Amino acid sequence: MLTPNMHYSELKDSYLFNTIYRKTAEYQSSHPDKKIYRMGVGDVSRPLCDAVIKALHTAVDDQATMEHFHGYMPESGAPELRKAISEYYRRFSVSVSADEVFVSSGACDDLGDVLELFDKDNTVLVIEPAYPEYVDTNILCGRKVIHLDSGEENGFLPLPSEEIQADIIYICSPNNPTGAAYDREKLRKWVDYANRNGAVILYDAAYEIFIEDPDIPHSIFEIPEAKTCAIEICSLSKTAGFTGTRLGYTVVPKALERMGMKLNTMWARNRETRTNGISYILQKGASAVFTKEGLEQIQKNIRVYKENARVLMDAFERIGIWYCGGRNSPYIWLKCPDGMGGWEFFDYLLNEIQVVGIPGEGFGACGKGYFRFSAFGDPDDTKEAANRLCKLLGR
Ligand code: MLT
Repeated sequence: MLTPNMHYSELKDSYLFNTIYRKTAEYQSSHPDKKIYRMGVGDVSRPLCDAVIKALHTAVDDQATMEHFHGYMPESGAPELRKAISEYYRRFSVSVSADEVFVSSGACDDLGDVLELFDKDNTVLVIEPAYPEYVDTNILCGRKVIHLDSGEENGFLPLPSEEIQADIIYICSPNNPTGAAYDREKLRKWVDYANRNGAVILYDAAYEIFIEDPDIPHSIFEIPEAKTCAIEICSLSKTAGFTGTRLGYTVVPKALERMGMKLNTMWARNRETRTNGISYILQKGASAVFTKEGLEQIQKNIRVYKENARVLMDAFERIGIWYCGGRNSPYIWLKCPDGMGGWEFFDYLLNEIQVVGIPGEGFGACGKGYFRFSAFGDPDDTKEAANRLCKLLGR
């Protein structure tokens, strides 16, 4: 008889973001007259920029003519898009070649798929609170996961110590959910740890576009030694509003080798087997992001989201609630008032003022008593939510 992957039984019944959607939908169906202010799941609310829309339209028309029609795309991405992304890295003084860039259907997909590069017997380190996919995908492979808690005492940015024994290390900076971001000096400590111990860092850079402070790196490869110990995973979801359009990219340096195996070659081989690539139309749209015009236009939405973050941060200052993030990040991580747990605070906000956020517990046990707000919502809704929070929390 077939044996299913029994590790599914180790997962929580529902993925965090689905639980949030479900609870919100349940509330809405029993209160159809109430407007809900959604600042929970980090889904963007602004449309794609003009340069992308034009490129998408042109690409659709291409598919209608014998002359311009495209069938299969190269599985690792169109050469011109890979080149455009490698050139984007020059902004951070990072030199990445086009064949170190792999176009994907999004960071979420590659964060899971890239685990196929590693043996199941490796140990994974997840710095918590963390994006829940890191834990779930490793549970499903039966891999040992160790959790490194972070907290207010280290600004939610823990550092490595030689007691930690891990082969695969997830680092998300600017962090989802806390918004905290490693500066170069701190990130270098993780790079040195990984190189010393033969570990590999999976660096989730999905929020790099929100960075303002010059001492915070946009890419782990701003630390040159990271080329021998890191894979960077990035996405246009938040950068260019592609949550519903879907496109991301992963950088696997050629210098990254373990036990004589080159991870770049392995990943190229993995892509040959596992995918027929991303659609021609989407890759054309994505290429437009990396043009001069596109890079200017995407900033318009980023400014809107940053202003949303400022509105929320002002509210928490007024209320006198401890928070971090919001500055180099679209997420604000706060302490629930009056010692409430995150799920208790979630219900309280939904029932009293119809504002939705995400309980810190959803991102790991050490998130208990904290709460995450996203700045990706509609600006008017964000202002109204901030007013409601100030009134409710009455300070
Ligand atoms: C979030 O709310 O954390 C985001 O939606 C994560 C994601 O991009 O999948």
